[in-house]
Amino acid sequence: MTRIISFASTKGGVGKTSLVMALTSELRRRDATVLLLDCDPNRHLAEWARRRNDSGVRVIEEITESNVRQTVQENAPRFDYTLIDLAGFGNLTMLYAFSVSDGVMIPTQQSFMDVKETVRTFKVVADSVGVLKHTPTCSVVIVRTQAAIESRVDRHARSLLAEHEVPCFRTELIERSLLKEMTYTGQGPGDVNPNSNADLNVRTLTDEFVAFLNAAPANPLIPRG
Ligand SMILES: Nc1ncnc2c1ncn2[C@@H]1O[C@H](COP(=O)(O)OP(=O)(O)OP(=O)(O)O)[C@@H](O)[C@H]1O
Ligand SMILES: [Mg+2]
Repeated sequence: MTRIISFASTKGGVGKTSLVMALTSELRRRDATVLLLDCDPNRHLAEWARRRNDSGVRVIEEITESNVRQTVQENAPRFDYTLIDLAGFGNLTMLYAFSVSDGVMIPTQQSFMDVKETVRTFKVVADSVGVLKHTPTCSVVIVRTQAAIESRVDRHARSLLAEHEVPCFRTELIERSLLKEMTYTGQGPGDVNPNSNADLNVRTLTDEFVAFLNAAPANPLIPRG
């Protein structure tokens, strides 16, 4: 069954596109097919997908509020996963993308400002109940953390999220040069350096991602075989 997920944040430069690239490369290593929707006018994800040159990954760019729903409904059923990479600011495309998603993932960094903004994005999704026919299941993932054991700032970030009842992935995406390198090569850490720490991190994150989407109720607006 096809699965559709939006990557959103009302703050720019958090790590959405990098998260999408990392998950896509690992999903491909698991032989899943992936449709990418690039909603960012800068089209970094589309460029990455072209560099990747992978018949199991299709990217559609120039996605806007006027075509996002139709594009998902018409194309998603042919892929195992559809990942919608939203632009780094709140806009109507974001709401329309939510309306055709099973899940929403909000990456956040760990500072107080970042987490506050993340709580705000989460509330945008929660408030869309009533406007949308289906409310996607939403979770935060903490990204660009240091590769150490749980830090004090990590505990601060997690307790602020918990205070606002915002669910959060257990796995964090750690700051790694392999994840920066990925943006040049079109490959993921598992393709470039299998069993590296970055690869193991992305694999664990992908396990949690797949379980999260499997548990999310299917959006009835998407035709599924
Ligand atoms: N886990 C990571 N390890 C190393 N670098 C990272 C990681 N995550 C993101 N980055 C770097 O952080 C910067 C911003 O990341 P990215 O472009 O993915 O954010 P974004 O949320 O998609 O931004 P925008 O809102 O502009 O679309 C990039 O330089 C990227 O390489
Ligand atoms: Mg981006």
